[in-house]
Amino acid sequence: MSASQKAGDKTPTAESYRQLQEQNRQLRRILEITRILNTTLNLDTLLNTIIAMARDITATEAASILLLEPSSGELHFKAATGAKEAEVKSLVVPLEGSIAGWIVTHNRPLIVNKASEDHRHYQQVDHLINFSTRSILGVPLSVKNRTIGVIEVVNKAKDLPFTEHDREILETLAAQAAIAIENAQLYKNLQDQIKAREEAQSRLLHTEKLASIGQLVAGIAHELNNPLTSIIGYAQLLQYNQKPGETQSDLDIIVDQARRAAKIVRGLLTFARQHPPEQKPVQINDIINSTLNLLDYELRTHNITWRTHLDPNIPLTMADPNQLQQVFVNLTNNARYAMSTAHGGGELTITTETGPSLLPESLPDQPVIRVIVQDNGPGIPPDILPRIFDPFFTTKSVGEGTGLGMSVCHGIISEHKGHIWAESSPGEGATFFVELPIVAPVLDSTADSPPLLDASTLNSQARILLVDDEKEILTVLTRFLQKAGCRVDAVSNGRAAFPLLEQTDYDLILCDIRMPGISGPEIYRYLQTKNPVQAGRLIFITGDVVNPATQRFLEETGVPCLSKPITPIELLQKLAQSGAIEASPDGIPAESPEDITAEGDEL
Ligand SMILES: Nc1ncnc2c1ncn2[C@@H]1O[C@H](COP(=O)(O)OP(=O)(O)OP(=O)(O)O)[C@@H](O)[C@H]1O
Ligand SMILES: [Mg+2]
Repeated sequence: MSASQKAGDKTPTAESYRQLQEQNRQLRRILEITRILNTTLNLDTLLNTIIAMARDITATEAASILLLEPSSGELHFKAATGAKEAEVKSLVVPLEGSIAGWIVTHNRPLIVNKASEDHRHYQQVDHLINFSTRSILGVPLSVKNRTIGVIEVVNKAKDLPFTEHDREILETLAAQAAIAIENAQLYKNLQDQIKAREEAQSRLLHTEKLASIGQLVAGIAHELNNPLTSIIGYAQLLQYNQKPGETQSDLDIIVDQARRAAKIVRGLLTFARQHPPEQKPVQINDIINSTLNLLDYELRTHNITWRTHLDPNIPLTMADPNQLQQVFVNLTNNARYAMSTAHGGGELTITTETGPSLLPESLPDQPVIRVIVQDNGPGIPPDILPRIFDPFFTTKSVGEGTGLGMSVCHGIISEHKGHIWAESSPGEGATFFVELPIVAPVLDSTADSPPLLDASTLNSQARILLVDDEKEILTVLTRFLQKAGCRVDAVSNGRAAFPLLEQTDYDLILCDIRMPGISGPEIYRYLQTKNPVQAGRLIFITGDVVNPATQRFLEETGVPCLSKPITPIELLQKLAQSGAIEASPDGIPAESPEDITAEGDEL
């Protein structure tokens, strides 16, 4: 090989050799990047990896990724290098008036080597993070001809201008990155959907579990009703017989304690949805205001400040105002207790709003009324959170709480076809959500419940037939009614009632629904055919309103029904209020001197 030959060879200059080496390094890097990008489905990790690599292969000061929010059409920073990453990520960049926006709308890369002179440069970002953008190279992130965002690199090292080669390199990276981002986003959506479905499933399981506990509890509550009614009844009978002071106070204790037990039974029955809610047009904001007025003193004396954010446009809805008030009383009391016990006080905020349900399983086009009760107390630990709606679950010490408050709320809200749930990060308070369907109000002129019976047919000497298979209840009710001046026949089964009904024209028939042999409804049907006037004087007393057949029967016939547990005094008060019997002003029957025994051969 001659020297001249050697001189004429196109041997690379040192500079082009260096460039080739650099390009090879970049290509190797891109190959490596492609491999890495395919190994992660975690969106955040992926985006951070991409920008780090983008900076590296373009030798730039900073890099960022902006993704297009399809619903709003805005560009959001999703990843950025540098110390102010958090600030940058909170920024939204407009499509109009930004270099990133231009790249997305034109789906073309762009090199701007003098950012300060380019009117498209969106300066707010620099201001916010105290940064100086001198040059920018941006390329679109596209998948199947759809632009999903932009990748930008800023300020080339040594303030060199960006070259076409930089653009090519970044485009190669962007092509790989866009597919990886799309996959990670799909994966994240899928994960979100699975999570939402799992949560919905666990809520459903929870609801089913509560429903089956409810059935068990309802059975027990029914069994307790009768003995409780007897205990209270007999104790009250003794009270009226004016025993010496000490015995009186003992009796007071018996009545008080039995009433407490009766209250628990009532709570259980509410949880087990024994009482179908009333349906009245109600304004939820009014119920919340009245609840807070009711509890204001209690809250203030426990150092709780409260505030409301009530949406004035909450529509009227059909619901049971008393039951809803009970829900908000229970929620407020719990928050008060938690805050004052843990911190000696706190803040309670109640918000109302309308909008789509927050629960993914609900229909998005059906707006609901949402009430949010938020406190800044100790919060609810994650292991306790799933149990707070279980009956008798309480973290209070013995004697302080029964653990029925939340289960009663759950029963009431479910009966209104709504949802109630709680969210809490321990140490940051608890937030309860109540969602109720918006039921178009039906304005009804019969706002007050009608009297039990037409009072004109009755007087204080009323002749009453009592039919109940619980002998103790029969006896105690008979004695009370007799004390009120009534003439009472009492029988413990339906068959024994028939001959009495043939012989006597009763003013009032008080009848149990479920009895062995002839049932209450059968007695009613018998009277309907034999003596319709008397059929109109029948009132049921029952603990069985949960039974759907019973409910249907009561709805169809319109026969009045008093539900147990009912104490004899409450019964007398109710009958007196409706004019069915006469009673002294406080509802307590007039005294009769001697002890009275029940009439009727069935006792
Ligand atoms: N706002 C709250 N902050 C912290 N814990 C709460 C809150 N609300 C409810 N809890 C937890 O839920 C449990 C159950 O509440 P629930 O109202 O059913 O019963 P209770 O308040 O313990 O008793 P009761 O309501 O019968 O007096 C409470 O004992 C408490 O542990
Ligand atoms: Mg409670």
